[in-house]
This record gives sequence, C-alpha cells and structure tokens, in this order.
Amino acid sequence: MSTITRTLPRLRRFAPHYALMRAAMRLGAHLSEGIAVGFRHGFDSGPMLDYVYENQPRGRGALGRLADTIYLNQIGWRAIRARKALLQRYLRQTLLARREHRLTTHLADIAAGPGRYHLELLAELGGEDIRLTCRDFDGRGLEQGRALAAHMGLRERVQYERGDATDPVDLARIAPTPEIVVASGIYEILTDDGAVRRSMQGVRAILPTGGTFVFTTQVTHPQLKLIANVLTNRNGEPWVMGTRSLSKVEGWAREAGFSSVSSELEPLGLFGVTMCVV
Ligand SMILES: C[S@@+](CC[C@H](N)C(=O)[O-])C[C@H]1O[C@@H](n2cnc3c(N)ncnc32)[C@H](O)[C@@H]1O
Repeated sequence: MSTITRTLPRLRRFAPHYALMRAAMRLGAHLSEGIAVGFRHGFDSGPMLDYVYENQPRGRGALGRLADTIYLNQIGWRAIRARKALLQRYLRQTLLARREHRLTTHLADIAAGPGRYHLELLAELGGEDIRLTCRDFDGRGLEQGRALAAHMGLRERVQYERGDATDPVDLARIAPTPEIVVASGIYEILTDDGAVRRSMQGVRAILPTGGTFVFTTQVTHPQLKLIANVLTNRNGEPWVMGTRSLSKVEGWAREAGFSSVSSELEPLGLFGVTMCVV
C-alpha cells in the first residue's frame, strides 16, 4: 500500500526541546481554551477546527486569552481559516449557479466535523433549495454541529450522520444523491494514499453527470516536525502529517474519472482547494 511516508516528519518525542514544548502545551491547556480543546478532542478534530474558525480567544483571565490569541494565530490555523474562505467561495459560486438554473441542491460533506462553514453559507444564501448532509467518523463533532444548526435555525435543512469517508460502499449510502460533495481537511490527515484514492473513487461513483467534488490538500507546512512531536491527534497519538503536491492529487482525481479538475492555493500557500466536475 502506498503512503506518503517519504514526506512524513521523524518522531523524536524524547528530544529535550520537544519534551519541554509538550510540557508547556500541557500547562497552556490550563490557560487557553483552544489548547484545552486540542487535548480533549485531538488537534486534528472537527471540534478543534470549529474553535479555530470561531476565532474568539477564550481562556483563564487575561493571560489565558493572550495564550489563546497566540495559539489561534499560528500559521497553520490562519491558513485553515483562509482555506475555509476559499472553499466557501467555490461553494457559493456553484450553489448560486445552480440556483440560477432553478436546480435544487443536496450538498454532502464526507468528513464535516460540525460543518460550521456550510451552516454559514446556508444562512447567507437562504432559500429552501439547498439541503446539507454532514457526515463524519466522530460523533462528538456531529453532535456539536447539530446544536450549532439548531442555534442558527437551520436544523430542518441539515442532517448529521456517521460515515466513513474512505469507504466507497458507505459513501454510496448518502441519500438522496448529492450534486456537490466536499472533503475538507480530511485528506490532509490521511497518511495512506490508498485511502485518499479510494475515497475519491467512491465520491466519483455517487455523483451524477454535472456533479461537483471539492476537496482540500496540504501542499506544505512549516511546522510539521513540531506538530508531530508536540501535538496529539483524535486517537491520542502523535499527530503525524505529510504533504502532497496539487499535481499528484489532481492526477488521482482524473484517474477516478473527474473530467474538469482545477486547483487554487489559499493566500498563505499551505492549502489547495481543488474543484472537479463529473
Ligand atoms: C481536520 S478535521 C476537518 C473537519 C472539517 N471538514 C473542516 O474542514 O473543518 C478532519 C475530520 O475528519 C474526520 N475523519 C477522519 N477520518 C475520517 C473517516 N475515515 N471518515 C469520516 N470522517 C473522518 C475527523 O473526525 C474530523 O472531523
């Protein structure tokens, strides 16, 4: 099975500077709400990203808020907010184009976490012609999303359900047939290339002619070693991530059967958003 191990950072968990940084982060979790969320759910989890999108520093006293501000302003989190804005721009264009043609849309996200970026779009665009399904492996992110959707008055238009984004058989259970599928932030955390390619093939199999697939890719990140040696993922393990080139993932999308494939980098250059049409 092919992996991106060549680009994966080496684990040096016993190196004194990383041990010191881990201790500092543990201490930081008593002050900064964002760091606490990371240790509670995993720094790669849906709830963590939701907190990053919210971008409202919280913590214990002024020092806690300062620590949270510093945490939320790390380059990776800034780039993730920029990725979200780019993703929303693509989706807005596609949804409005469909609306102009009087087409209804079922939008499905295969690893949405709480899916705040979709809820914001639904609230912005209004109307009854867009329905949303948010899927994820992790029930906690889905639960958080349900509460957010209810708070935003969108509960009737959104369904939250468990699902495996890497399993074509499970993807085929998405109903009704979606016209737009999104995979945001998941391929970045999958180190197994085979799982990403299976997922793309599964998405291609469920989309009708004219359907759109939007996915994101991490092309570079200046803190991969630090992250792997200091932070933990949703399973409580070192959060090891690699990077992939846009040409590689675009090639996989074409091999999966998508005909029109194009990508754009967010302004900080860490993440690409790729749009594919069947
Ligand atoms: C980095 S978060 C991204 C969340 C959200 N899509 C976003 O862009 O903010 C990665 C999400 O993928 C989910 N996930 C990981 N593996 C998955 C799988 N095989 N199937 C479905 N969801 C998965 C995690 O639970 C988490 O919510």
